[in-house]
Amino acid sequence: MSAHADLVRSQGKTLVFVPTMGFLHEGHISLMEIGLAHGNHLVVSIFVNPAQFGPTEDLDAYPRNMERDLALCQKAGAAAVYTPDSSKMYGPGFETRVIQEALPNHLCGLSRPRLFSGVTTVVTKLFNTVKPHVAVFGEKDFQQLAIIRRMTLDLDFDIKIVSGPTVREQDGLAKSSRNSYLSPEQRRNATALYRCLEETRNKAASGQVDAQRLLQEAKEKIQSVPEAAIDYISIVDPDTLEDVARVDKPSLMAMAVFVGKTRLIDNMLLYPPG
Ligand code: PAF
Repeated sequence: MSAHADLVRSQGKTLVFVPTMGFLHEGHISLMEIGLAHGNHLVVSIFVNPAQFGPTEDLDAYPRNMERDLALCQKAGAAAVYTPDSSKMYGPGFETRVIQEALPNHLCGLSRPRLFSGVTTVVTKLFNTVKPHVAVFGEKDFQQLAIIRRMTLDLDFDIKIVSGPTVREQDGLAKSSRNSYLSPEQRRNATALYRCLEETRNKAASGQVDAQRLLQEAKEKIQSVPEAAIDYISIVDPDTLEDVARVDKPSLMAMAVFVGKTRLIDNMLLYPPG
C-alpha cells in the first residue's frame, strides 16, 4: 500500500481515502463519491479494527462480506482497496495508542472507553500507510469526525479532512452496517431515533430551547419504544461536545440507543428560531 501511494503521488495525482470496516452500504458509497469530487485516485480500506472494540462488544459478530465489498468499491470507482490483516496491523509487541485528552470523554466515549483511542491509533497507522491528500469521514459518527479533525491538526497530518452527510433509509433510519443485526420488528422500532431527533429539531426551531426539557421529552419518547434502552441522549456544543443548557446557537443532539442487543447511534443539528 505504501509503495502504491508513493507511486500515485509521484504521478501528481490527488489521493483520496475512505477508511471503512467493510460491510459497505450507501453511506460508504456516498463517502466514496464525495472523495472523488476532491481527488482523482480513490483508495478505500476495509479493516475491522480489533483495537476499537471492548471485550464484551461485537468484534467477532461484526458483519463481513469481502467479495461483495470489493465489487462495490470497484463500481464506485476505487483505484485500490487496502485490506490489511490484523496480525500485520498489530504485530508482535505492539503497544502504542494515540490518546486524545478531552473529546473522547463525552457521548460514545463514556460507554465505550477503548473506542476512540482504537480509532485514532488505527487511523494514524492508515494515514501513514495510505498517505492520502484527502480523507473522508461520515457525519453519522459525529464524535469520531470531531476527534479525527482534532488529531489531524494536533499531529500535523498534511491531510484535508472532508465529511459526508448521514445517508438514511426512506423511513429515516441512518444507514449502518449494524442495522443487519435487527429483526424486522426491531428494524421498524429503530426509526424512533430519527423521529425523535426530527421532533426535537422542530421543537427547538419553534422556540423550545431549554435542553433539559427537550432531553426529558426525547427520553420519554424513546423509553416508550419496545426493546429500546437508552445508552445516552445529549445536546452538546458541536465543537467541544460539552453539554449545553439552551439551544441558543446550533447544537448537536446525539444519541445511542440499544434496540434489542444492537447499539444504534444517530445525531442531528438543532437550530434556535430564525
Ligand atoms: O468509522 C469507521 O468505520 C471506523 O471507525 C474507522 C474510521 C474505519 C476506523 O476503524
